[in-house]
Amino acid sequence: MTSQEIQNLKQEFTTELEAVTTADQLRDLEIAYLGRKQGKVTNLLRGLKDVSVEDRKTLGPLLQQLKSDIETAIRARQESLEPRTYNLEPRVDVTLPGKKFPMGHYSPLTTMRRSVEEVFRSMGFMVVDGPELESEYFNFDALNIPQWHPAREMWDTFYVSDSAHRIPNYKLPITNNRLLLRTHTSAMQVRIMRQFPLPLRAIVPGTVYRNEATDARHEKAFMNVEGLVVAEGISLQHLISVSRLFLKKVLAEDVEVRFRPGYFPFTEPSLELDISCLICKQKGCAVCKKTGWLEFMGAGMVHPNVLKAGGIDPKKYTGFAFGFGLDRLVMLKYGIDDVRLFRSQDLRFIEQF
Ligand code: DAH
Repeated sequence: MTSQEIQNLKQEFTTELEAVTTADQLRDLEIAYLGRKQGKVTNLLRGLKDVSVEDRKTLGPLLQQLKSDIETAIRARQESLEPRTYNLEPRVDVTLPGKKFPMGHYSPLTTMRRSVEEVFRSMGFMVVDGPELESEYFNFDALNIPQWHPAREMWDTFYVSDSAHRIPNYKLPITNNRLLLRTHTSAMQVRIMRQFPLPLRAIVPGTVYRNEATDARHEKAFMNVEGLVVAEGISLQHLISVSRLFLKKVLAEDVEVRFRPGYFPFTEPSLELDISCLICKQKGCAVCKKTGWLEFMGAGMVHPNVLKAGGIDPKKYTGFAFGFGLDRLVMLKYGIDDVRLFRSQDLRFIEQF
């Protein structure tokens, strides 16, 4: 062993180190020189015991120097190859902008239903839910629409034919209790009268069904809101002021209201309520057919026969009722011209709200 050999080995190492490009190669190089079993430097250090004492004094420190130079060079190279190898800091960078997830939102019908509920609650009404699959009795007979009545044609619907679906153990004053998809939430009137004590103030929002040939103004399913007030001394005047107040609050606009005589079997007298066209402000447009007015709801004083069906004495108590389409209200508010859009599942429509 000579100092020249040691010098050469160092040169050899430096050349090989320069050629290293990956961490794996670096590890192999380290093993080739410093490996405990066959490392080139290790072998020379081991061979020191065979050289003369004289040589050992000069060669020993040279070899030690070479070993530590190689160690330092390898560590330096390691840093530049994988500078984060020993960096155990968390990899989540909380300062990066977050990922955006698509957000859903309420249908305009739901938003409108909620604001209608809120307004009526503020006037002391309770909000009642009811079955969409309803008995023929509550949907028609109890509302003074017997089976032979021509008014049933206005509310044609879908019947459930299977008699197994008849309401079990439900004692109805008539034998016919076929089930149908309710045509209006008015079907809850008599149920409410039987279930809750007087005085009554209730609204019933909910989906109703009609057997319709659909067009821009008619759908086979839509949202209906029924209102019912029964107490001593209730008059048409109460109906008129409640309607005015409700519309003003829900639409947050001063709408004109007008009443026309109408006909419903379950009210006497019956009224139709129109509101001033919000779209053209009564100047006349296609939506109001240039009349400045829009049909909005049916209403009237509850018919004595309906009160009787609800177990209420019509000589002592009176009431008013009204019913309107929630879809229609949303259409008025936003100037939507086709009711079928609500249930079309078309995102281009729903994403506008
Ligand atoms: N149920 C009626 C309909 O769907 C609306 C209606 C009219 C409800 C008059 C009422 C009422 O309570 O008194 O066309």
